Amino acid sequence: MPHRCYDRSPAHAGTFDGTAWTPGTGLGRRIGKEDAVSVHTAAGFDRPVTTATFRARKSASQRIAMITAYDVSSARLVDAAGVDAILVGDSMGMTVLGYPSTLQVTMDDMLCATAAVARGTSHALVIGDMPFMSYQASPEDAMRNAGAFLAAGAGAVKLEGGAHMADTVRRLVAAGIPVMGHLGLTPQSVNQLGGYKVQGKDAAAALALLDDCRMLQDAGAFGIVLECIPAELAAIASAELAIPTIGIGAGVGCDGEVQVFHDMLGLGGDFTPRHAKRYAELGAAVTAAVAAYADDVRRKAFPGEEQSTHLDPAVLEEVRATRAGTVRRIAGE
Ligand code: KIV
Repeated sequence: MPHRCYDRSPAHAGTFDGTAWTPGTGLGRRIGKEDAVSVHTAAGFDRPVTTATFRARKSASQRIAMITAYDVSSARLVDAAGVDAILVGDSMGMTVLGYPSTLQVTMDDMLCATAAVARGTSHALVIGDMPFMSYQASPEDAMRNAGAFLAAGAGAVKLEGGAHMADTVRRLVAAGIPVMGHLGLTPQSVNQLGGYKVQGKDAAAALALLDDCRMLQDAGAFGIVLECIPAELAAIASAELAIPTIGIGAGVGCDGEVQVFHDMLGLGGDFTPRHAKRYAELGAAVTAAVAAYADDVRRKAFPGEEQSTHLDPAVLEEVRATRAGTVRRIAGE
């Protein structure tokens, strides 16, 4: 008799048959008993992912799969696929809200998205991305805003920056708020960095990044996103740290990977960042489907009998007779 995996919603529940886990909507990978610390094993298949899972994965050399989502439907889909963590990224500014960068994203934008993602997630760790100026000005701002993310349903927050953020990270962690760091290409500092460029390319920058990693770990961060840095540098950071590194444009030497939902699924137009791989062409599929719908509407091919309901013939007769009388009265007959 298969066990229901972690998911309380029958609509996208996975199953565990004693050997392998099968995701509910057919999108994910199968995970076997050999996954010693997997949340999908017979011993613990119904446990949601926590920051403790992150630590255990690092110790067991098991990679962590993370993806962004910004609403309930995408959260349900990626959660059913069995990802370990869902980042409600401030990349939402560009992918969903049409802003030119992440700098325009507000706390209100992020909390609304985080609450929706949390409502669609039953297994993965939901990480809320702290937007520009929600944590930089003071640790008090950071505390209040990070707390709001947890109140909205996130299990952790992510913020950008190294040594200068260590004190803030320490305070958040002391207050019970799990924090993921973010180093390398930090998009909220795009004006300081002079563009979206690979970081840590010379020895001084590489060594500074390794120092930043260490400071975030010492401050209590449970993981660090490494964005757009050379693969060798990411591998050194991953080997030196006890906490997992999550790469994006940082090679395969990290302890896990994060990708942006829209980049992976072909929903971001023609542009694909160098670090992304398209696993589907959903944008083209959606446009073709909506064009077919519009064509059907114009040809009166939709809605059809299947999508229609009908009046009882006696009711129809009464309505017609009454309307006919009304029309005669208006015409003065
Ligand atoms: O906002 C985001 O999606 C991110 C990832 C690119 C790491 O920060």
